[in-house]
Amino acid sequence: MTEAIAFSRQADRETLYLEVEPQIAALIEGETDLIANLANIAAVLKEVFGFFWVGFYLKKGEQLVLGPFQGPLACSRIDLDKGVCGQAYSTAKPVVVPNVDEFPGHIACSSASKSEIVIPIFDSKGTVVGVLDVDSDRPNDFSDIDVRGLTAMSKQLAKII
Ligand code: SME
Repeated sequence: MTEAIAFSRQADRETLYLEVEPQIAALIEGETDLIANLANIAAVLKEVFGFFWVGFYLKKGEQLVLGPFQGPLACSRIDLDKGVCGQAYSTAKPVVVPNVDEFPGHIACSSASKSEIVIPIFDSKGTVVGVLDVDSDRPNDFSDIDVRGLTAMSKQLAKII
């Protein structure tokens, strides 16, 4: 398997997504275990983009349960209709929150988190099975570039779920 991710340290975020996506695809092609892949994806996103927190919540029973992540301690369980994660899960659409203090029902795992993006993750049949959650310690840190880049990665996962 790949032992290190190659990326241009000075590049803008759009370029970084383009550089990283095929490398994530290669990682996933070489490993069938979901947790191993989610763990490596979280590590790659943290290393390349320097996000404050990046991780996965997976649907288990009637809740989203914390999966592999990088960053500070986070909430273990989120109800399916609660918070930013619950909205992305229940609408099956990406949610971008420029200012977490203005999102009704935002679940604050860390007071340092200022903006957030959550992308649904689908299985091969198109059912939502969880979410990819990225938090920034800067307000208004996410745009359509992140929606596109992170959605492309989430689509890779459908191949193995
Ligand atoms: N803020 C999220 C909860 C998860 S943490 O950000 C890691 C939410 O409102 O769903």
